[in-house]
Amino acid sequence: MVHKVKGAVVRGKNAPVTIETVLVPDPGPGEALVDILTSGVCHTDLHYKLGGISDDFPFLLGHEATGVVSAVGAGVTNVVPGDRVILNWRAVCGTCRACAKGQPQYCFNTANATQKMTLEDGTVLSPALGIGAFIEKTLVAAGQCTKVDDDVDPGAVGLLGCGLMAGLGAAINTGNVKRGDSVAVIGCGGVGTAAIAGAALAGATTVIAVDRDPKKLAAAKKLGATHTVDATAEDAVTAIQALTNGFGADVVIDAVGRPETYKQAFYARDLAGTVVLVGVPTPEMMLELPLLDVFGRGGSSMTLKLPSPKWAKVPYYDRWWSSDGRTY
Ligand SMILES: NC(=O)c1ccc[n+]([C@@H]2O[C@H](COP(=O)([O-])OP(=O)(O)OC[C@H]3O[C@@H](n4cnc5c(N)ncnc54)[C@H](O)[C@@H]3O)[C@@H](O)[C@H]2O)c1
Ligand SMILES: [Zn+2]
Ligand SMILES: [Zn+2]
Repeated sequence: MVHKVKGAVVRGKNAPVTIETVLVPDPGPGEALVDILTSGVCHTDLHYKLGGISDDFPFLLGHEATGVVSAVGAGVTNVVPGDRVILNWRAVCGTCRACAKGQPQYCFNTANATQKMTLEDGTVLSPALGIGAFIEKTLVAAGQCTKVDDDVDPGAVGLLGCGLMAGLGAAINTGNVKRGDSVAVIGCGGVGTAAIAGAALAGATTVIAVDRDPKKLAAAKKLGATHTVDATAEDAVTAIQALTNGFGADVVIDAVGRPETYKQAFYARDLAGTVVLVGVPTPEMMLELPLLDVFGRGGSSMTLKLPSPKWAKVPYYDRWWSSDGRTY
């Protein structure tokens, strides 16, 4: 059976987003059909709309969702109809050389649904991040479903599917923030504020939020920032150095993803510090740095790669957030 549902589609580079009828097939082997309850709006959806991710238009937008499994295909064992789930970008294979090394975040053989969702005229849609959640029902690989409790708030828990996972993961897993560290986060949207919360949860004692928007800085303070820097009024690098005894921060997270913010992160870190790039650059962006500066600094530069909240150790986040008095 084919399901006729409404979804938010962008047909070409910076074309308006339109609500279209989408045909969604019943799940085949290894697939799950999911009724979407809620979906967050992530900056990456805007990248898709503007053509900053790829030219595979038309895109079915949305990728930060909670839903209820309505049907599963042959061979699916991890979820059953009625399960409340959040959706991962990709299902990991469990057997490739990265998975075998216990590093499924680098899985080389990830999966999305094999069957395609289409417009009524048969045009194949590209679901954002292999999900396409701005729709009533979507089709995913069953391994993209992470089961959550039935009584969780779907609007809150769905954010674990992308922004929260990315930000918390950037601080705790990729940046490896430790108790007593100093951390600076450039860009305090959904991802950056999650990185701030992650840094605070990991025990950082100096947590510097950098943004151009005073409202974002105020929100960052509520989530654990100890200091804020208004990037429209101050040079971010100088300000971060001033707040860290002139040294720079142990971990600097670029949650914007532009060459200028990456350079700020690079120069605002302590000599042996870590830079984490979690913001998504677009294809035309180029980075120019004096190689001598790269050579002259120790430390490391990391990028975030996380296919699934499962591998971001989300259950721990859940406990931490709950123990902090917040519930899903
Ligand atoms: N790697 C991942 O897993 C992952 C996951 C989700 C989102 N992202 C990417 O992370 C980035 C942030 O996503 P978001 O949803 O939080 O976006 P957002 O639009 O909610 O937030 C971006 C923030 O950056 C601030 N900003 C912009 N330019 C700045 C500058 N020059 N200096 C300081 N602050 C600046 C904005 O004021 C805003 O508060 C995007 O590039 C998005 O595509 C990456
Ligand atoms: Zn996202
Ligand atoms: Zn794998």
